[in-house]
Amino acid sequence: MTPIEIVPGVRWIGAMHPDLRIFDDLLPTRRGTTYNSYLVGEEEFAVVDTVKGIFAEDYISGLSGMVDLNRIKAVVVHHTEPDHSGSLGALLDRVPKATVHMTKPGRLYLKDLLNRPVEACTIDECTEISIGDKTLRFIPAPFLHWPDTMFTYLVEDRILFTCDAFGTHFSDERMFDDLVDDFEADLELYYDTIVRPFRGHVLAALEKIKDLDVRIICPSHGPILRTDPARYVEKYRKLATLDDHPRPYIVLIYMTAHGNTGRMVQAVAEGMQQLDVEVDVLHITEVDDARVRRAMENADGLVFGVPTMVRDVPPPMWHVLSLLSTVQLRAKCAAALGSYGWSGEARTFAEQRLKDMRLKVCEFGLRKKFTPTEESLQECRKFGEDFAAEVTAGE
Ligand code: FEO
Repeated sequence: MTPIEIVPGVRWIGAMHPDLRIFDDLLPTRRGTTYNSYLVGEEEFAVVDTVKGIFAEDYISGLSGMVDLNRIKAVVVHHTEPDHSGSLGALLDRVPKATVHMTKPGRLYLKDLLNRPVEACTIDECTEISIGDKTLRFIPAPFLHWPDTMFTYLVEDRILFTCDAFGTHFSDERMFDDLVDDFEADLELYYDTIVRPFRGHVLAALEKIKDLDVRIICPSHGPILRTDPARYVEKYRKLATLDDHPRPYIVLIYMTAHGNTGRMVQAVAEGMQQLDVEVDVLHITEVDDARVRRAMENADGLVFGVPTMVRDVPPPMWHVLSLLSTVQLRAKCAAALGSYGWSGEARTFAEQRLKDMRLKVCEFGLRKKFTPTEESLQECRKFGEDFAAEVTAGE
C-alpha cells in the first residue's frame, strides 16, 4: 500500500484492485475498483473504514509501517459490508484499545460478519470525536447502501467521507478526480446498479448535508472528488429525482420472438391512449438496463409483454423482471400478457413475480394461442383502456 496525502493530516491508505472485472460476482467493473480507507491525524489517529479481506495482510503491514498502531484511537466503520470491513477484524486485533464508531445496525451486523462481539460507541452515543485538532462529526445515512450506513464530516478540512455514496468502481492510482481518466460513465453505472434502489434515502441524505461546506468528497470506492464536489452532489440529486411526467405515465416492456406478443402490446397501448395518459412502449432489444430501470422507477403503471417459450418466461424477460427489485417502485398496478404456442405458463409466472414485488396485478383475461386475431386485438385495446382507467383512478 502506498499512502496518498489528501490534505495535511489526511491520507488515503486503501487498496487498488485494477484487474477485478466482476464486483461481488454481480456487477461489471470496466477498470476494477479500489477499497478506500483513510487515516486521519498527525499525532494520534483515526482509521476510516478498512479494505476487502484479501488485502488485509498488505493493509495492516502498510499501516503499521506508517504509524505506531498504539496511537490509533478510533476506527470509524461507515458500513459493514465485507468490501469495507473485510480487514476490520485483523485491524482490531492490532488496535484493541481503539474505540469503534458506527451505527447501531452496523454493530448488529458486525457481530455476525466477524462472528465475534465488537464493542462500539454508536453514533447515537458519540455524535462527534476529536483526533488531535481534527473533529469528526458523524451523520447517519441509512441505506447508502445498507441500513447501517453513515457519513463522517471532518470539520476543519471540510472533507465528507461518504462510503458507498458518490463511489465508483474505477481503479486509477492517480486517485484524484482531476488526475484520473474519465470515469463519469462508471460513476453513473455505480449509481444505477448500487445506489438506485435507495432513491428516497439518497434525497434524505442530501438534505442532511445541504448546509455543510464540503471541499472534498472521499468515497469508499474510486476517485476522491475534490474538483467541484457540489457538482457530484447535484448529479446525485438529479439521478435520484423522478422525471417530470405531467400525465400518468404507463410503461409497456415486451419481447416478441415472432411479432405476436408485440402486436398484442401495441394494441394494449392503443387502448390506453384513449385516456389522458402518457404511454411508453419499450422493446427489450432496443433498451439497456439503465433505461428500463428509469422507466420502471417513474411508472404509474407497468405492463410486461411476455411470450411463453419452453414452458417458461424467456431468460431476457426474466432479466427485465429481475430489475423490478433494483428500483423504488411507485406503480399503482401492473399486468403481464403474451402470446404462446403450446402451454402459456409465462404470463402466470410473470404475474407471480409482480405480486412478489407487492404490485397490484390487473389480470389480463385473454389467452391467445399463436397469432392474435382482429377480435383478440380488440380485446387487448379494451384491456389497455381498462388498465389506464385503473391507473388514472383517484388522480
Ligand atoms: Fe462498497 Fe456496500 O459496499
